[in-house]
Amino acid sequence: ENAQLKDIISHAKEYGFVYPSSEIYDGLQAVYDYGAYGVELKNNLKRLWWESMTRLNDNIVGIDAAIFMHPTTWKASGHVDSFNDPMIDNKDSKKRYRADVLIEDKAAELEKAGKEEEAKSLLAAMGRLLEAEDLEGVRDLIVNENITCPVSGTANWTDVRQFNLMFATQVGSVAEDASTIYLRPETAQGIFVNFLNVQKTARMKVPFGIAQIGKAFRNEIVARQFIFRMREFEQMEMQYFVRPGTELDWYKAWADTRVKWHKALGIPEEKLRTHDHDKLAHYANAAMDIEFDFPFGFKEVEGIHSRTDFDLKSHQEHSRKKQQYFDPEVNQNYIPYVIETSIGADRLFLMTLCNAFTEEEQEGKRRTYLKLHPAIAPVKAAILPLTKKDGLPEKGREIFDQLKFDFNVVYEEAASIGKRYTRQDLIGTPFCVAVDHQTLEDNTVTIRHRDTTEQERVHIDELQGKLAAATSF
Ligand code: GAP
Repeated sequence: ENAQLKDIISHAKEYGFVYPSSEIYDGLQAVYDYGAYGVELKNNLKRLWWESMTRLNDNIVGIDAAIFMHPTTWKASGHVDSFNDPMIDNKDSKKRYRADVLIEDKAAELEKAGKEEEAKSLLAAMGRLLEAEDLEGVRDLIVNENITCPVSGTANWTDVRQFNLMFATQVGSVAEDASTIYLRPETAQGIFVNFLNVQKTARMKVPFGIAQIGKAFRNEIVARQFIFRMREFEQMEMQYFVRPGTELDWYKAWADTRVKWHKALGIPEEKLRTHDHDKLAHYANAAMDIEFDFPFGFKEVEGIHSRTDFDLKSHQEHSRKKQQYFDPEVNQNYIPYVIETSIGADRLFLMTLCNAFTEEEQEGKRRTYLKLHPAIAPVKAAILPLTKKDGLPEKGREIFDQLKFDFNVVYEEAASIGKRYTRQDLIGTPFCVAVDHQTLEDNTVTIRHRDTTEQERVHIDELQGKLAAATSF
């Protein structure tokens, strides 16, 4: 892992954002827990996404479907037969890799070395081979490109084999009539099987969308890059049901909307790019990724997919229940086409953390802080009395009590004011409110701004409005 990512991982652990799961038992690969500030940041991101979908669009509603679904769901969706990753083992290190990820990493290396055309043609070649399910060809590509194992350094590879990513478990006691069910590998299917329920009960008319946030599980072969690729993660997906023939217009419109959303979160334009898929998933007629420039290169954060009528049609066939919609405007029954926007909450979290992590030299001193948009910062303001006496703590508590109903604020009186500022910088708190002796006389406080460290004097009555304005999205 590169140095910057390492710094971010240790910062996340040390300051209460993300810990390895069950760490006292040495952790569980590709599974992580969120700490006090991590859960606030993640919840803020989820809430922003949810509100952007369901509140800003009067034709999008939410659902919360179960993680377990009828096993036929995954037959119909294609996941039982096609949700595979090509894997390859290195015979010397006995380490297992995803063949496509090895090739992607090689392409990223070429790109970094300025060989963009070579990188592109390598990815295109891989796309063609995977599409044709030519696993031998994929192995040849790895060998010809002289891709070596990061652990052993050798190119002594096994064949490439397909590996299904779904976790299976049993319902009922095994002695009884047990049947295999899967932990959902995507939240989308919970939306598809409820399409008519929602359309009828929420009285929706095409075009309309259904949004959902929930856990998904994949038995990922490569588990690295921190929370980028996890075995248990959260997805935020929105399926937008449209009239057949209009899907590519909606596909473009949603791609635009989603890129704008990332920019509004404070992600600079040069760190974002879109990338059309060379290899389309089994359900799509167009697909692109929104990518972010992570410390390990540009990688997917969100997928925009034009899923055609693949899922609804397949559920209609497998369930023998009509999945049609009557469109009164054109007086026709049809199975709607679907545009999907799909983003991992954890991957979005990693993007915002990487983007916010700032190390600066100021007056010969190194300062580390998280430059998070105030709307997603875990703590919006810290109320800090200058000293522990003369009635300053009481005044500080009073201000804290006024703000706590609307904002996640903290009150802290231990340690020097400088140390307390530093601590808030490290968790990304945009405002520190210092309470001093003057406060007792005229009800003014000093606001110290995280990014500039500049200070301003304001009346206590202004705090509410200032925080509300700064933390709105
Ligand atoms: N329903 C479509 C779908 O699931 P995907 O491209 O496989 O498409 C969508 O996943 C998003 O989910 C990705 O862009 C990524 O943000 C997130 N994601 C996928 N696998 C993940 C994993 N193992 N760990 C964390 N996030 C993941």
